[in-house]
Amino acid sequence: MAEKKAEQFYTPPPKLGKWEGFRIFIWNSETHQFLGRTGASWGKILLFYVIFYCGLIGFFVAMMVVFYQTIDMKIPKWQQDKSVIGNNPGLGFRPMPPESNVESTLIWYRANDEQNYKYWTEELDKFLEVYKHPGSVSGEGKNIVDCDKTDPGDKVCYVDPKEWSYCSSENHYSYHRSAPCIFLKLNKIYGWVPEYYNDSDSLPGKMPKDLKDHIKDTTDPRERNTVWVSCEGENPADVENIGPIQYIPRRGFPGYFFPFTNKEGYLSPLVAVWFERPKTGVLINIECKAWAHNVRHDRAERRGSVHFELMVD
Ligand SMILES: *[C@@H]1O[C@H](CO)[C@@H](O)[C@H](O)[C@H]1NC(C)=O
Repeated sequence: MAEKKAEQFYTPPPKLGKWEGFRIFIWNSETHQFLGRTGASWGKILLFYVIFYCGLIGFFVAMMVVFYQTIDMKIPKWQQDKSVIGNNPGLGFRPMPPESNVESTLIWYRANDEQNYKYWTEELDKFLEVYKHPGSVSGEGKNIVDCDKTDPGDKVCYVDPKEWSYCSSENHYSYHRSAPCIFLKLNKIYGWVPEYYNDSDSLPGKMPKDLKDHIKDTTDPRERNTVWVSCEGENPADVENIGPIQYIPRRGFPGYFFPFTNKEGYLSPLVAVWFERPKTGVLINIECKAWAHNVRHDRAERRGSVHFELMVD
């Protein structure tokens, strides 16, 4: 009896050499233990983990299924003022400076050196690729139609690269002529409907005079349903240096492109701003704005307007 009790206590293993001990740990032929466990013990552990992970996977899948029930791939759940991006669209410009220099908004090149301005024209080529081959990204382009000013915004409208003339790829976007084109694009906001400045008697005081004149000269009321665009030099010196500007193909984003509802193949309308004769060798600060009643201009928040610098050597 006393002997049996003593057996329950731990007995130190027989003294073995290091290598011998390790060998026995790998495979103990006496007890048939592999790495310190018998086959049955290993089997139970394996079974336990199989069941455990199946349980985890099942739980994860169930959660994902519930989550996917609540979202729609086409329509954002949080829209307009409920969403993080809000309902005040931003304005963007292309070409953008290299990614290594994200803070920079400077477009600087030498017009007589093709290697030098190639970066900018290639950036534009990349950006406009999808406009030249609509549907090359989504695989769909069949639903894109030529819209005209009578169309309400329920179609996917064609953006015609042939209208870009001096701002086309074939013309090197006029970079070699010291007359660069900068493309402007209004950021997409799902379901956003512009409230147009289409009444020439109630234009805001801060709107540039040349834009007011342009709106007054636009006699077709349907063509006035446009998100207008203006670009100006920021400081008096910039105003002097910026030279004449043309907006190609027209001075804004036509109303039939709105609202954006994530239809297959949708392309944002573009305005190419053609700086015909900017003063060379000086840096010009430029601010472009989009104009609609529901576009507020906020430089700090980068809404409704965009700032960049141009320098042509
Ligand atoms: C002018 O714009 C307003 C707001 O966007 C719109 O409701 C109205 O129909 C437009 N007027 C014309 C003549 O198209």
